[in-house]
Amino acid sequence: MSKMRIGGRDIDNAHVFEIVLDSFPDIIHSVNDAGNIVFTNRKAEELLGYTKAELLAMNIRQLYADDIQADVAKGFKQLKEQGAQRVESAVKDRQGNRIPVEVRSFAIYDDDGSFLRTFSILRDIRPLKELEDGLVHASRLAAVGELASGIMHDIANPLTIIIMALELWRRQMPKANLDQATAEQIAGHVEDMERAAQSIEKLVDHMRGYVRNRAETQVLVDLGAVAEDALFIAGNKLAKDKVKVVNRIVRDRYWVRGCPNRLEQVFVNLVSNAADAMEQQPERQLTLAVDSIEQGPEPRWQCAVTDTGTGIPEAIQKDIFQSFFTTKEKGKGTGLGLSMVRSILNDHHGEVRVQSIPGHGATFYVCLPKASPESGAATDGRLVG
Ligand SMILES: Nc1ncnc2c1ncn2[C@@H]1O[C@H](COP(=O)(O)OP(=O)(O)O)[C@@H](O)[C@H]1O
Ligand SMILES: [Mg+2]
Repeated sequence: MSKMRIGGRDIDNAHVFEIVLDSFPDIIHSVNDAGNIVFTNRKAEELLGYTKAELLAMNIRQLYADDIQADVAKGFKQLKEQGAQRVESAVKDRQGNRIPVEVRSFAIYDDDGSFLRTFSILRDIRPLKELEDGLVHASRLAAVGELASGIMHDIANPLTIIIMALELWRRQMPKANLDQATAEQIAGHVEDMERAAQSIEKLVDHMRGYVRNRAETQVLVDLGAVAEDALFIAGNKLAKDKVKVVNRIVRDRYWVRGCPNRLEQVFVNLVSNAADAMEQQPERQLTLAVDSIEQGPEPRWQCAVTDTGTGIPEAIQKDIFQSFFTTKEKGKGTGLGLSMVRSILNDHHGEVRVQSIPGHGATFYVCLPKASPESGAATDGRLVG
């Protein structure tokens, strides 16, 4: 930004006009009948990588992406006839990168009505495009969620039959005439199957509760149970990546008031982000712990989710809670996790904070007002059906 001093010296109108257009957040340019650029502003220099002098020696065709040259020529002709135009288009910068823009153009005529030049405002619409992509991805995920909820239901019913059959089998075994070694062997298999079926049942139960967007009633929630459930849901990924899990959030000690499902989502998001951040690290440890915070207007629990992952660069620490902010490749990150975490905690009169030294992992702090088990109907924080 150049300094604007008005006090001591006069600035003529044209100069003021130029200063104003230079501080404009969009590209502005003007071209003559031959398509040569006769005026442009600082944003054009910034976005396109040319100096003003270079731009003033260029033809408008050189600024637009190669695949839309025909449209540009047609558009220019139409603009001269119609006087105004608004189109989506794309320019290319000095390196040849394509930048999608929204173009609003006006034709300027002299007193006789003959065309003099154009005046165009070009807005970089990349942020808008990213937002659109994010929304498409998010709604696709929502659809997958719906689908998963249906599948969970379809799994639950046959699973109940399997569990019942195994139970019957176990009871009928003694009546079969088997030698002891065979009987013990089969009993062992049945037990394995029962355990496996129960673990599927538990997972299905959790998933159904997680996917469902039920009306929320605030109940007494045990953070120990919430943390355990979140670790259970993320268990597969943690085990696959061989992450050492240290969970110090024990049961029946840390009570808050809220919605167990949504608080579980908070922890699932934090745990899965931590797992992602540790994927490529040699040392992978996830630690969950709680502190009691007594100062401030009300006593709170402060849960810390700490990983030994990549850490978060200082410069983006303030951005990570924004919707659709992600550093992960397309299809992997949605950038919705932490914004959801923050909005859930807001609803619970809590907050989330991050502390990270890049290269040394990250800690996310979840703060929630304390509640006591005597103060209302108790639940163990577990998801129900
Ligand atoms: N534990 C973590 N370690 C390092 N970076 C993290 C961690 N948690 C979140 N981040 C950063 O914050 C960004 C946003 O996270 P999130 O909102 O969950 O979206 P997503 O996981 O889909 O990218 C991530 O892309 C990542 O850059
Ligand atoms: Mg995430």
